[in-house]
Amino acid sequence: MFRFHYRLERSAIGLVAFIILVASIGGLVEIAPLFTIDETVEKAEDMRVYTPLEVAGRNIYIREGCYACHSQMIRTLRDEVDRYGPYSLAVESQYDHPHLWGSKRTGPDLARLGNKYSDAWHTAHLYNPRDLVPESKMPAYRWLLRDQLRIDDLGQHLAALRAVGVPYTDEQIANATQDAYGQANPDSIEASGVAERYGDATNIRQFDGQPSRLTDMDALVAYLQVLGTLTDVAHATQTAEVE
Ligand code: HEC
Repeated sequence: MFRFHYRLERSAIGLVAFIILVASIGGLVEIAPLFTIDETVEKAEDMRVYTPLEVAGRNIYIREGCYACHSQMIRTLRDEVDRYGPYSLAVESQYDHPHLWGSKRTGPDLARLGNKYSDAWHTAHLYNPRDLVPESKMPAYRWLLRDQLRIDDLGQHLAALRAVGVPYTDEQIANATQDAYGQANPDSIEASGVAERYGDATNIRQFDGQPSRLTDMDALVAYLQVLGTLTDVAHATQTAEVE
């Protein structure tokens, strides 16, 4: 083995050729699966896109580095499925740019977090995790409740997502700002447009409990509450498998 390396090092061309060969194996392993992507990603007719408020919340999730402690991918292992629910399917993150699967779990996986807790629980937990979970190591994110959410540029965010393949319509892009406002203000005129454009199952609520203000907290909680609920395909297919 070492003799082989010794001899290889004495032939410049041979060494270069061998390096290219070895490096290309890594490349192939990464590239080859992409040729079968059409079969890899399941079909989910009911899959919906994120609303502008949820996109804003997702951006805050990235900004605050939540992915450094939380994964969003349930593996197919028994203990994970028992703890978190049906394992994650590729289709569930097909509109995630960038994906937030994560590789570190200081805290629990969040892939099926939606509807697990109330909005008030999330708001209180993000404000100070130790008020609800005394032994928690999670940092407090108090400013989320204070800072006003920026919504005037959300149309551009949706347009950018459309450029990489998320099927937003012209109408959704044009109404992004008012839809973000409407989703967190159920009594406003803007609220009706949200259900019209994103479906009746969309959460239209006062997420952070401050009726007069639209904050970063509203957006982040709106996002957390839809994790794992954009399509029912994982529940539907995996319960069928068990039966
Ligand atoms: C330093 C690591 C760390 C960071 C960063 C972090 N968390 Fe956590 N998180 C934890 C730990 C540990 C727990 C478990 C204890 C608890 O519930 O507070 C947790 C729990 C949670 C839970 C409850 C999950 C469940 O199923 O019970 C949610 C929701 C959550 N975090 C959201 C967030 C969000 C959103 C952010 C970013 C704003 C964030 N976390 C950032 C460590 C972290």
